[in-house]
Amino acid sequence: MRILFVCLGNICRSPTAEVAFRQAATQAGLADRIEIASAGTGDWHVGKPPDPCAISHAARRGYDLKPLRARQVGAGDFSHFDWILALDASVLETLETIRPSTFGGRLGLFLDVAPSLGTREVPDPYGKGPEVYERALDLIEYASRALAAELARR
Ligand code: 4NP
Repeated sequence: MRILFVCLGNICRSPTAEVAFRQAATQAGLADRIEIASAGTGDWHVGKPPDPCAISHAARRGYDLKPLRARQVGAGDFSHFDWILALDASVLETLETIRPSTFGGRLGLFLDVAPSLGTREVPDPYGKGPEVYERALDLIEYASRALAAELARR
């Protein structure tokens, strides 16, 4: 099972999702069965570490984002990953434009694994205040646990 999280820059939301979901998957005993990665639809930050604010907010919850480096999603990702999960609707729209017709996996919104959240999108915190980073972390952590629980039931 291979899961790719995708946001716009791959420096805030999807790296956070990669690390938070890896922890949730490990706690659910799934770590050896799932490959987890992240990417961005944009190319502005390729090769760069995550945003310093994303790193520091995540670190306060025990997540280490520092080793990650941004990369841009490409058509080849649809051959490798089974599930490609977008952090917001505009990212999903972009992914739908590059989705090969042969892709047989799941392409959708990450937060749809947790309908009780009452929102389907993780807000883009880049350049915003600390409350938006915390809100993004809250949503990502909750959805990570929900996704790990769903996969553990299979
Ligand atoms: P992310 O946040 O999509 O959560 O990584 C962003 C980071 C950078 C930009 C936009 C969103 N940017 O325009 O550079």
